[in-house]
Order: sequence, then structure tokens, then C-alpha cells
Amino acid sequence: MELLIKEAARIIKESKSTIAFTGAGISVESGIPPFRGEHGLWNKYNPEVLDLGYFLTNAEECWIYIREIFYDFFAEAKPNEAHLTLAKMESSGIMNAVVTQNIDNLHYQAGSKTVYEFHGNSKKLKCLKCGKVYHAAEIDFTQIPPTCVNDGEVLKPDFIFFGEGIPSEAYSSSFAAAEKAEVCLIIGSTGEVTPASYVPRTAKQAGATIIEINPEETIFTSAITDIHLKGKASEILTLLGKQLF
Ligand code: APR
Repeated sequence: MELLIKEAARIIKESKSTIAFTGAGISVESGIPPFRGEHGLWNKYNPEVLDLGYFLTNAEECWIYIREIFYDFFAEAKPNEAHLTLAKMESSGIMNAVVTQNIDNLHYQAGSKTVYEFHGNSKKLKCLKCGKVYHAAEIDFTQIPPTCVNDGEVLKPDFIFFGEGIPSEAYSSSFAAAEKAEVCLIIGSTGEVTPASYVPRTAKQAGATIIEINPEETIFTSAITDIHLKGKASEILTLLGKQLF
């Protein structure tokens, strides 16, 4: 592994444009369960609670689970060494952008500035009728579903539900960054969800070297990965950071 870490660090140092594509796995060591795999949230909860059509007709039921998954769990989570290393890479000029599927806000909390949130962010909620935006910190989650002060309509978390489109700014910025990347790190993602998983594939097609950080093999590994650093995100990125800084 040490040789692979050294080789990955050499390639990153030589790169003129590096991006990171992150999934739920990078936040597991911050206490947030992944969606899939042995302890995956979708083993415990029905993904239907995040289906837009179902939410619009069953808001109260969905909010019980949404609060438990995304506000009870996420509220205490802090960035781990993996998030912090990516932020330090950016401030050291060797990371151009983070494209994240995560809605937990941990990249921003770690200090990353250029973050494209492909699936939105759980820290904001929106009124479905008038569009008023709320910050999660100002919501009383003991009253669910939370409603708008203007018109009493149900608030929806400002992250993407199944059946919703990807935020256009995040979408275009992510693919533009992927097309220019010479290196793309893939950290903690099964790659099972599209169109997000097309971002690293676009980088690969544009000639980027793919460095994957994950304790498991994924559909990326055999398809596009050049170097698989097999291990937990915070452990691997701590070792990588020692070679980079
Ligand atoms: N470090 C790195 N990777 C890890 C760790 C860890 N400590 N623990 C688990 N993983 C890996 C797992 O091996 C798996 O490959 O993280 C991945 C988690 O996969 P998913 O839960 O499918 O997460 P992700 O790929 O981000 O899911 C994509 O699915 O439900 C939707 O919108 C949701 O953004 C999410 C999308």
C-alpha cells in the first residue's frame, strides 16, 4: 500500500487539475451511515420516503423518517480527516474542486471552498409553495412536517429526492471540472447512482487518472480505476497527506 500511496501522491503533485468525487463513504467515519452495504440506510428505511411523488402526498409520514435520518443523525456529525485533507489540498493549490453526492455539508465545514453539491444540501429547506428558503438551524423539528410561516405549506429539505432533477449549476460545474481534470479521486461511492456516477467516468474519458479510495471494490474499480487505495477514507487520506504536505 505504501508504494501505491507514494505513486498516487506523485501523480497528484504533477497534476495541473485535480478533482475529488465523494460519496457517503467519506462521511462514515463522521458517524453518518452509508446508504448501501452492510449497515446501509436503505436496509433500514424505505427509499420511498425520498421519492418526490410519494413525499408530496405523504409529507407527514416521510418527515418522520427524514428527520430521523438527516437531522437527528447528521446534526452532530463533524468533518473527519478525509474532509480536512481535501480542504488542505485545496488551500495548498493541489485540489481544484470537490464534486459531492453528499448532502451533509461536511466538506464546507472542513473548509473546502469549491464544492459542487450534486444532490443539494440538507442544511437548507424550501417552501414548496412560495419558495422561501429556511436554514435547518431555525426549524423546530418537534413539529413535523415543518411548515412555511408565509403560507403554512410543507417545507421540503433542499436536497434532491428520487424523481427530481439535479441542480443545474452543480451539474454543469461538475462536468466542466471533470472534462478538465488530469486526476480524479473517487472517495467512498458505490457508483450506483446516475447521473452523478457519470462525473468520474467523464474525467476518465477526458484522459484523467482515476485514484479510488474505498475499503471495497465497486463498479468503478474494474471499469475506470487506475489506482485503488483499498481502505477507509480518513486513514488513506491521512497517509496521502503525509506525502503531499
Ligand atoms: N471510507 C471510504 N469508503 C467507505 C467507507 C469508509 N470508511 N465506508 C464505506 N465506504 C464505501 C462503501 O464501500 C461504498 O462503496 O462507501 C460507499 C457507500 O456507498 P453508498 O452508500 O451507495 O453511497 P453513494 O455511492 O454516495 O450513494 C450515492 O445514492 O441514495 C443515493 O442520494 C444518495 O448520494 C447518495 C447516492
